Amino acid sequence: MLDIKSDFPSLFDKNIAFLDTAASAQKPKIVVDAMSDVMTDHYANIHRGMYKYSQVTTEKFEAVRQIVKSFINAPSTNEVIFTRNTTEAINLVAHSYGRAFLQKNDVVILSEMEHHANIVPWQLLREQLGIIIKVIPITKEGQLDYKAFKELLCKNTKFISIVHTSNALGVINDIKTITKTAKDFNADIKILVDGSQSVVHGRTDVQALNCDFFVFTGHKLYGPTGVGILWGREEILNRMPPYQGGGDMIESVTFEKTTYKNSPSRFEAGTPSIVDIIGLGFAINYLQSLDMQLIINHEQTLLTDARHALKDYIIYGDVENKAPIISFNVEGVHHSDIGTILNQCGVAVRTGHHCCMPLMHKLGINGTVRVSFGIYNDANDIDMLLSGLNKARKLLL
Ligand code: ALA
Repeated sequence: MLDIKSDFPSLFDKNIAFLDTAASAQKPKIVVDAMSDVMTDHYANIHRGMYKYSQVTTEKFEAVRQIVKSFINAPSTNEVIFTRNTTEAINLVAHSYGRAFLQKNDVVILSEMEHHANIVPWQLLREQLGIIIKVIPITKEGQLDYKAFKELLCKNTKFISIVHTSNALGVINDIKTITKTAKDFNADIKILVDGSQSVVHGRTDVQALNCDFFVFTGHKLYGPTGVGILWGREEILNRMPPYQGGGDMIESVTFEKTTYKNSPSRFEAGTPSIVDIIGLGFAINYLQSLDMQLIINHEQTLLTDARHALKDYIIYGDVENKAPIISFNVEGVHHSDIGTILNQCGVAVRTGHHCCMPLMHKLGINGTVRVSFGIYNDANDIDMLLSGLNKARKLLL
């Protein structure tokens, strides 16, 4: 088992069971120090200065593209675009790719387990273009219905935007089956994968997934807020129009005509979140120094133990292939009351709809208690959760 709480100043010796990594992860000291170093040692804007501070900061900034490229096995750093978060990355694709290449009556397929960030941008596009949104249903076990997905494919299907690992259930979708089924049906269908939760708990290989876009956020990956990643195939990105205009993304500007750089600069208008991006590089390096297989084993052990401990509660999406995220309810008790009492016991969980209202609707509930593990959790955190739940039941039932 990993024993690394001491790497996390916000958790070490704090008597808190932090079980909300799916919302946002705690930060290792190495990330906090690296970000502080940039600001105290050599801070300057990037790509714009002939002087040393700017050169050092630019080098550190651009090195993160290489780190991300290796982390997700992307073919080129030109395909790694820094965004503000997953939400911005999906909006970028929906609005840039969507407005350029989709038209009225084209079909975009989503699934019932999507986060609002992978629903609303497509609805905004529907209002503008008249595209049709179709939704892959989930089975009663909480898995994607792959047979129904196949039946949804039609000649107008142009785009699929789907989550890799559900933030609300922890269920891991079989993306390779989705991409193969779709591309066998029509090789021109484009596929975006929301990897916000999956990059945290397993290895990522965008080439093996055979998707066209892959997006994730830094703050769930033990990095800072304010930075996300859009990966896309270079030949598609360079055909897409810019999403925002401004400095650093142009080749030349006149009042008559402006020409744009290729990816990634084309999609990085304005001064980016320099310090956060450098922090994300350190977070990924830190994770890789721990060894992904060790992380997987550690988190899967916690998941197995917690599942066993919670067996008397109603667990949603209790399937075999699962990230260390458990959503449950205690019969007869409102999820937010459980969350309130757990908080009094030093246990941090998320309660509510988890930004997945359509999924909650499908499950016939208005929310759950969600426990999500990260690399720093240990058996003591599960003990604290159980004792908090016992207290809640005594008080509320
Ligand atoms: N998407 C984040 C969550 O699942 C905020 O909690």
